Amino acid sequence: MPDLLNEILKLRTRERVEMLSRNGQIFHVIMAQQFLREFIDEICLLADMIREINSSRHGADFLQRLLPHRRAMIYFTQPSTRTFLSFACACQILGMRYNEVRDPKTSSEVKGESEEDAVRVFSQYFDVIIMRHPMEGFSEKTAHMINRMHRTIPVINGGSGRDQHPTQALLDIYTLYQSFSGGSLVRRAAGIQIDPFPGKVIGMVGDLQRGRTVRSLSYLLCRYPGVTIHFISPPELGIGEDILEYLREHEVEYHISQELDPLLPELDAVYMTRIQDEHDAMAGQSSRIDYSRFYLTPDKLERAKPTMAILHPLPRRQEIHVDCDADPRAKYWQQVQNGMWMRAALLAYVFNTEERIRSYYLENYTY
Ligand code: NCD
Repeated sequence: MPDLLNEILKLRTRERVEMLSRNGQIFHVIMAQQFLREFIDEICLLADMIREINSSRHGADFLQRLLPHRRAMIYFTQPSTRTFLSFACACQILGMRYNEVRDPKTSSEVKGESEEDAVRVFSQYFDVIIMRHPMEGFSEKTAHMINRMHRTIPVINGGSGRDQHPTQALLDIYTLYQSFSGGSLVRRAAGIQIDPFPGKVIGMVGDLQRGRTVRSLSYLLCRYPGVTIHFISPPELGIGEDILEYLREHEVEYHISQELDPLLPELDAVYMTRIQDEHDAMAGQSSRIDYSRFYLTPDKLERAKPTMAILHPLPRRQEIHVDCDADPRAKYWQQVQNGMWMRAALLAYVFNTEERIRSYYLENYTY
């Protein structure tokens, strides 16, 4: 029997996206191409509402009562700090309980159970499966396996090999929104909403070949007409041709460069990443690349725009000097927290509670 994943990968992106939807709505959250502009705007507003509601005792109690009858499995077989913890905190914010499997050595996989059977088992106990896996496409395959079992359980991709990290892309765009528009989106939405993206120049820096966060964010930026992207990396670690093709199809202006310094004064946002050497075919292969010209230091920042937003999915190594942290342009700690609000918004969305949140917000917060 042909492998299910190979069958899926032969389909067009549009067909794959459709198979992940139910009743015209995103059901499994697997890849950034699923997110249309309307969805992204809505989910960012929802994240903002949750953030504000959660800041009062009354509001936090309201959120906790939304999903106490739902249980999540967080199945992460690749290392994670932020994505794991922010999903766990997001569950707690909405009153959901969660269980985790992070080390397959502690599960029946040691006894020879396949990973496929492991997720089939999870689907019998839990209402959502949030997963991170080293194999590209495994979360998509899981979504299809669950559909075939006629289970109504969404699968959320928390990182799939070198390929995608769609929930990170959502929190990144949320952070860019905040940076470009200066603060809360909800308050702005109550007044005249101006799209802050057209004309913005965004630099993606580092290991663009194997960095899944850059790949997912690039897909997402196709929903923002008028942005320009500079892909800045050593030649060995350039962005994939599949991404460039998608950008061309969506008429996004992009440039490829191997130097950060001359471009720095032009950028409205810089997205820094580390070398993903865990994917090296040979041990230490990437350590031969001189990466230092892609580092951000306080002296380099003097030549950048005073409003430039500095993002990084983290973990960082030397790409951003710690002395940059105090600079008001550094948004990476804000990104960390935004991950929690965004993932709470996503869970609220997949369990159809966004309307209750919106009504609560309108009743209790007036500007
Ligand atoms: C990223 C990841 O796992 O892809 N981290 C994260 O989720 N915040 C980036 C990385 O590991 O470099």
